[in-house]
Amino acid sequence: MALLPILRYPDPRLHKKASRVDVVDAGIRKLAADMAETMYEAPGIGLAATQVDVHKRVIVMDVSEEKNDLRVFVNPEILSREGECEGEEGCLSVPGIYETVKRAAKVRVRALNLEGEPFELEVEGLLAVCVQHEIDHLDGKVFVEYLSRLKQTRIKAKLAKQARITA
Ligand code: NI
Repeated sequence: MALLPILRYPDPRLHKKASRVDVVDAGIRKLAADMAETMYEAPGIGLAATQVDVHKRVIVMDVSEEKNDLRVFVNPEILSREGECEGEEGCLSVPGIYETVKRAAKVRVRALNLEGEPFELEVEGLLAVCVQHEIDHLDGKVFVEYLSRLKQTRIKAKLAKQARITA
């Protein structure tokens, strides 16, 4: 396994739309394993392939306290949404920024597992928020884009300053 570099907002590559995975092969399994390692190391609760500059529809998540509940979704699709919830979100591509975003409270998802088998799952709570956040990444959307223009400009300025300090 290997740690992968994570793109930082406002990197334009975060806005690429990821393509569907045709075959879940050894390459996809290796990508998912590397993404999981990168997510745990960061540490974070979710990571989309887009964030490591691989534009394929693969996401990894683990919202458990013990970090022992890894979920890998290939070609995830939201089939239905229910309710509304608001919570503070962060993102490994937008370090140090936490903002409130409105999401569906419950979603039904269809995806492939690492054996290439389709499954459907209804999720709620933090996992539902996480799934929506990560699928947005695959569509080229970063959570700060739900915020006002003014806030986005401030966040970009803050991140540019951070980058200068750490460079
Ligand atoms: Ni994110």
